[in-house]
Amino acid sequence: MTATIFALPGNEVLAASLAHHLQIKVGQVVFHSFPDGENYVQILDEVRGKEILLVSSLGHPGEKFLPFYFLTSTLKDLGAGRITLITPYLPYMRQDQRFKPGEGITSRYFARLVSQIVDALITVDPHLHRFHSLGEIYSIPTQVVSAAPEIARWIHEKIERPLLIGPDEESEQWLSAIAAQAQAPYEILKKNRRGDEDVSVSHIKTERSEDRTPVIIDDIISSAHTMIETVKELRSAGYPPPICIGVHAIFANDSYQELKEAGASSIVTCNTIAHPSNQIDLSESLSQCVFEMGKDGS
Ligand code: R5P
Repeated sequence: MTATIFALPGNEVLAASLAHHLQIKVGQVVFHSFPDGENYVQILDEVRGKEILLVSSLGHPGEKFLPFYFLTSTLKDLGAGRITLITPYLPYMRQDQRFKPGEGITSRYFARLVSQIVDALITVDPHLHRFHSLGEIYSIPTQVVSAAPEIARWIHEKIERPLLIGPDEESEQWLSAIAAQAQAPYEILKKNRRGDEDVSVSHIKTERSEDRTPVIIDDIISSAHTMIETVKELRSAGYPPPICIGVHAIFANDSYQELKEAGASSIVTCNTIAHPSNQIDLSESLSQCVFEMGKDGS
């Protein structure tokens, strides 16, 4: 492959790892934020006619989006060819319907915007719930990488007799895949969310067994209240401190600390968003996806 890979700030480690797997060059770009908050972008490589891979996890999209937009616009202005966005975390997937009158369906609006800016998109486990595929809202080619094989491998290597717990019905899609690959039993709880930080989960039914280590798995850890309430439920049912695994380490405000204090024995995430809890590396799965996408030109 002869593409050049560029990283938005915070994505440099993953971009370097992808460049290593794909044997391609990392492009140099200067980002600067002026005192008034405006963004500056300068590309230091020749990009005319080149295929571009752009790595940018888009958690906290309010602050990430303009630098991303300015970089892609500059690349196009300078004559770059096809731009594939590798956004291991794809935001705005949860507002997928009008829950209350007057609300916007921001999943759709965000998808429309991104589809106008880049030519293709690769992401990891987007929060598909009411939409069943990204193609329902994105008009560009998209590919989804599943974190399940690497999570299952991590569990298989590190935990002797795991019991996997999904905090809500949405988690069943990835939990069942992980359970099958890790050959572990699992239970899905029911979640009731009344507000951003007001969550409760149903009681666990699986009988406690002394030698099983509980492992809670979810896609996104944002306020961490889903995880915190699940940890509390397991602890009050007499389970040992559980391991918490999330795909996307958003960790808003002090939620990482709060989850630790709630009684998680350890917190492990995939490297879709750079965070100290990253222990599960998806760079090989992502580069394989880039490679396959390049082969069939989709
Ligand atoms: C939603 O259903 C997702 O799968 C997660 O459970 C949710 O996004 C976690 O959010 P929080 O950490 O804010 O509870």
